[in-house]
Amino acid sequence: MKPTENHQIPAIGLDFGTSRIVAARPGDPAPQFESQLNAFISVPFSRMTEKVLREQGVPYVAAGAELFVHGNESARFADLLNAEIRRPMTRGFLNPGEPESVKLIEAITRLLAGKVDKKQKVWFSVPAAPAGAGENLIYHEASLKQMLDDMGFEAHSINEGLAVVYGELEATNYTGIGISCGGGLCNVCMAYLSVPILTFAIPKAGDYIDSSAAAVTGERANRLRLLKEESFFLNGHYPGKLQHVLGLYYDDMIRALVQGMKEAFEQARNMPKLPRPIPLVLSGGSALPKGFRDRFEKILNESGFPVPLSEIRLAAEPLVTTAKGALVAALSDL
Ligand SMILES: Nc1ncnc2c1ncn2[C@@H]1O[C@H](COP(=O)(O)OP(=O)(O)O)[C@@H](O)[C@H]1O
Ligand SMILES: [Mg+2]
Repeated sequence: MKPTENHQIPAIGLDFGTSRIVAARPGDPAPQFESQLNAFISVPFSRMTEKVLREQGVPYVAAGAELFVHGNESARFADLLNAEIRRPMTRGFLNPGEPESVKLIEAITRLLAGKVDKKQKVWFSVPAAPAGAGENLIYHEASLKQMLDDMGFEAHSINEGLAVVYGELEATNYTGIGISCGGGLCNVCMAYLSVPILTFAIPKAGDYIDSSAAAVTGERANRLRLLKEESFFLNGHYPGKLQHVLGLYYDDMIRALVQGMKEAFEQARNMPKLPRPIPLVLSGGSALPKGFRDRFEKILNESGFPVPLSEIRLAAEPLVTTAKGALVAALSDL
């Protein structure tokens, strides 16, 4: 489906992740997904460069003395030009070190959304605020909503963990625990009959694993990220030192996640009396390595987690679960 055909579509789900922006649209028989890297690189402005980019169909925005190449093409250009990739978001929120962040997210969103029909509904994911970062969430959410409204959408936000519940737990009437482990954050939501009862996030996820492993091994974080994405198994037997170190920080992330869940659930005051055990679903790019589900289950079982679970499973398509849930929310709002 081409983005320009989008104008007949009444609703879209958008996942604004630290690493990638994912769009979900209704489709027959299943929703359609598209993603772009939430990243850009800067090249010096010249009329010649601009002409070449335009002719090659490479997406860019001009800003003063710079041209920003954004989305998936930014990775190719970073390689070609040996330039550093920059990110409009960091740790789940708009990157305060990038003043043009909203402009770039808008440009990347346009690649995915195409032409916007008046009052087309879009539901977009926002993280829960990690402890002490509540103000960031207010600014992040308001800026993205304003951006989408200005593009012509009718925009609503949805908590990322709740979107995972909407995307995966229709069978239990949206009762259960949804978890998304991405680049910047792990987000958790427990919902009861579609109502969010408890949401939170921890600031340890894929980027934390890469940068921590890089710091102690002297390797570049990007090399570790590629190793992790291409050939890493979480099975306790590691073929080399780098895998071993990645395994250590993976364990650390899972323990922090489980500890956060345990404390949040023990302290929750409005917990409904659950008539039966509830399901838990894991999603996000950081849930992809083989063995992740088993490792998570083992650490959770050892922790004394207080809520009885009927199952712990991986989402059907972990990279698009949040966008799918945002679309489910958007469609229920028509
Ligand atoms: N196959 C994989 N194995 C391990 N980690 C992966 C894999 N694919 C992506 N990741 C990691 O997942 C994270 C991004 O997850 P994603 O859900 O796309 O993130 P975000 O919500 O931050 O945009 C990154 O840290 C990336 O390195
Ligand atoms: Mg995400």
